[in-house]
Amino acid sequence: MPEQNNAAIDPRHLPRHVAIIMDGNGRWAEQRGLPRTKGHEAGADAVRETLKAARELGLKVLSLYAFSTENWRRSRAEVNALFRLMSHHIRRELDEIAKHGIRVRIMGDIERLPEQARKDLQTCIDRTARNTEMDVCVGLNYGGRAEIVRAARRLASQCAARAMRSEEITEDRFARELYVPEHPEVDLLIRTSGEQRISNFMLWQISYAEIVFLPVLWPDFNGHWMREAIREFQSRRRRFGGRP
Ligand code: FPP
Repeated sequence: MPEQNNAAIDPRHLPRHVAIIMDGNGRWAEQRGLPRTKGHEAGADAVRETLKAARELGLKVLSLYAFSTENWRRSRAEVNALFRLMSHHIRRELDEIAKHGIRVRIMGDIERLPEQARKDLQTCIDRTARNTEMDVCVGLNYGGRAEIVRAARRLASQCAARAMRSEEITEDRFARELYVPEHPEVDLLIRTSGEQRISNFMLWQISYAEIVFLPVLWPDFNGHWMREAIREFQSRRRRFGGRP
């Protein structure tokens, strides 16, 4: 990817769904001799910047990987700090989120989250449920394999109850059992921090996604990097196109 690329973004060929693996908060803090939680705080500010940039570009669906099923392995102090931070940000940003017509969705099993975090999330989901400008889906206690297993179980129980026959299970029918079936498949997957892995994120939905790995650590992600990723997406589409 060129260092400086100011080519215009074509508003007619925006990715319908952008998913982001927000990685590098810990390293950002380490580089500054700060505790990891400071990296997460800066990361939460970058989420705010990202929503602003996405709105300004006219993106319609954004999915963010905030907490994976594997993240429970971190220290209890770090996990608690992450959820406290999330609650704090939801409360602080909710008016702004609602004002801009953003609808917040969740994917993942949130039963295991601290009670306060669940309450704040529920308030946010309820308050924004009728918004239509942009959907933001946050992955919390989320894992792509767990999502697929959950979908399989839901179909299996319908078969066991004789509400459907196994021959009726198609890709489309399967996709209807994912956490957010209304969202289109992911067109563009971004991962920050230079790591080049999928880490169990949206395994079903990224089947045909363009993947862009960015060298920037998550707290430094902003509109500039979002545009950079979209330009890269559009240049690949121009070269290899074929899909409408
Ligand atoms: C990855 O950095 C980031 C996370 C595990 C959490 C993402 C959380 C936020 C961006 C802040 C809060 C979220 C919301 C929705 C307000 P890392 O800790 O894995 O970094 P490292 O790989 O450098 O250690």
